[in-house]
Amino acid sequence: MNMDNKALLEWQLAAGADEAIDSTPTNYFTIKPHISNENTSILSPQIKVFAPAPQITTVNTPLHLSPTAASSAARELANNCSSIAELEDALRKFDGCAIKKTATKTVFADGNPQAGVMLIGEAPGAQEDMQGIPFCGASGQLLDKMLLSIGLDRTKTYISNTIFWRPPGNRQPNETEIATCLPFVEKHIALVSPKLLILLGGTATTALLKKDQSISRLRGKFYDYNNEYLNSLIKTALIYHPSYLLRQPLYKKQAWQDLLLIKHFLEN
Ligand code: URA
Repeated sequence: MNMDNKALLEWQLAAGADEAIDSTPTNYFTIKPHISNENTSILSPQIKVFAPAPQITTVNTPLHLSPTAASSAARELANNCSSIAELEDALRKFDGCAIKKTATKTVFADGNPQAGVMLIGEAPGAQEDMQGIPFCGASGQLLDKMLLSIGLDRTKTYISNTIFWRPPGNRQPNETEIATCLPFVEKHIALVSPKLLILLGGTATTALLKKDQSISRLRGKFYDYNNEYLNSLIKTALIYHPSYLLRQPLYKKQAWQDLLLIKHFLEN
């Protein structure tokens, strides 16, 4: 493949075009619709893009659910789970989030659910998608160093994400994906019931705290997190996402201050 083709493919991936429908390209603009007596559709059968979607066999929820139906199906499944193992099992069988189809693995969680500290990131990247473990790539290495600087590691924390499948091309998760995963995330937090919740970056913060401001505006203090599964509020800290810090190392100073606040909270 020459460099131009590679760049084009990367651009298409970044734009969300992550699957080819046919093995040979078809220029749909050159095909004229014709009306046939046998066919009640005004579209030529050649226009495959409008053909009914193939039947997808799923264990649980079909991939072609509307966004609202997908998040209702997720909510119903989450409502019925009474342990982390049940929730993980329900999530692995859930096929209502379209990016599951392009992902290699479902990335559920890592660490110790009894630790009392739960971290929520954004979504799996390429490494996480291959290994099925959250934060096992470059940003995970930085996260481990950040945790270690305040005496924490994966035996003393529990780590998950806002989205359980890698968005194609590592793009940011969209609103539908976030809304579809949210019932699982909310139930996950309630089942873990941590003393402290730490949200890594903007996606987790907007999804869970419903705050639109940037982390730079919101950081430096604790928030009370609530959701429909909780009986009491959970103290919540926000820190810059480690992949942001890899791109913008100048913000490590503020991240360090936030880590010290977290350390102080945990020691008192
Ligand atoms: N970034 C995240 O937000 N989560 C991961 O698991 C990996 C990278």
